[in-house]
Amino acid sequence: MIDSKKLFIVSLLVGMAALLSCEKDIDAVTDSILDSKDGPRPYHLTVPEGFPDYFLADENRLTHEGVELGRALFFDPLLSRNQNVSCASCHTQADAFSDPRKFSIGTNGELTGFHSMPIFNIAWMNEFFWDGRAKSREDQALQPVINPLEMDMSWPEVVDRLMDHPEYPALFEGAFGTDQIDSSLVVRAMVQYEMTLVSADTKFDRAWRNEIPLTEEEQAGRLIFESEVGDCWHCHGGILATDNSFHNNGLDSQDNLQPGLYSSTGNDEDFGKFKTPTLRNLAFTAPYMHDGRFETLEEVIDFYSSGVQNYQGVDPLMKKAPQGGSQLTDEQKKQLIAYLMTMTDSSFVGLK
Ligand code: HEC
Ligand code: HEC
Repeated sequence: MIDSKKLFIVSLLVGMAALLSCEKDIDAVTDSILDSKDGPRPYHLTVPEGFPDYFLADENRLTHEGVELGRALFFDPLLSRNQNVSCASCHTQADAFSDPRKFSIGTNGELTGFHSMPIFNIAWMNEFFWDGRAKSREDQALQPVINPLEMDMSWPEVVDRLMDHPEYPALFEGAFGTDQIDSSLVVRAMVQYEMTLVSADTKFDRAWRNEIPLTEEEQAGRLIFESEVGDCWHCHGGILATDNSFHNNGLDSQDNLQPGLYSSTGNDEDFGKFKTPTLRNLAFTAPYMHDGRFETLEEVIDFYSSGVQNYQGVDPLMKKAPQGGSQLTDEQKKQLIAYLMTMTDSSFVGLK
């Protein structure tokens, strides 16, 4: 479950940062047009039944015009150096907005350092990237554009291109009441679009609400997942199927450990911790883990069953680590996978 206290503190900090920054004028403009009769139309984001309330910074209220603008920007290769890569190149809808390639290819033909992450239900997340280096959605959206392995641009260059574009200035005017484009408005629009990527149309959700039963096999898998037998729920429990936190789940030996969260916090105890991914839509998000090392779910479950490393830095919640994992039988592995597959949302990826 999402930690609402933490969200509250983050929202306070974000709010304070916005007040202190020079964006105040734009906020004032935005607020006044939002409140005016002819301004952009508010977009109501429905919270799926069973989900907690989401957190949205006041200064980025969703509007239809903002969401549409964000969608256009998300799919536009104009934002990359060679105009050949958009956000959607590495975050494709058919793959729940992740990338089926182990690593993604950026504008200069180079590979990213990590496996791409799916983008959905980010309304219920407050830290981004495998190593948590972005502390808000807006901060996240600033980064791909200037990352040399991804879009390799500078923000002034992007703004120039958008200002010279035949349509964008009018779209910004419609969404934010100004045709003076800047990076903060670009990322606000992109975040508005991303917020609408909500995935909750699954058997898992309907069973969670007791509307339909699971099959015997899925139910057996659920028991493995939610008990000490499989030990998954500690980190992937709850309706979001993630604790939105960072752990070392024992993938690598101490010698092969990558810094992970340590690279954004500098705290020794964060070395080797990575963001817990949601287990929703695994049917579409292979390969798995921060480096895409596992091509199939079977490989993932084999790892949790018998390949977990054990040393002091491995998360104490990996309680079965001393035996190398939870030692599941072949039947239990199948049951667990059947349960995980109930979290598949075909309508979200356009298959239904
Ligand atoms: C060249 C491929 C590439 C492009 C282009 C790209 N991304 Fe990503 N994206 C990635 C990879 C790889 C990661 C994981 C990287 C990491 O953790 O360092 C990621 C992570 C993310 C995340 C974090 C999700 C989470 O759960 O923490 C979001 C959100 C995101 N990207 C949005 C965007 C947006 C918005 C754009 C366009 C402005 C974009 N990406 C462009 C490859 C790409
Ligand atoms: C201590 C917390 C913890 C526990 C317990 C745990 N996981 Fe994970 N899980 C993680 C973290 C952290 C990652 C990402 C690790 C990385 O990429 O370095 C992850 C990654 C995954 C992935 C890859 C998802 C993706 O999109 O790449 C799957 C699938 C998964 N876990 C399933 C399970 C199952 C099934 C169980 C129980 C058998 C389980 N996990 C137990 C923390 C945990």
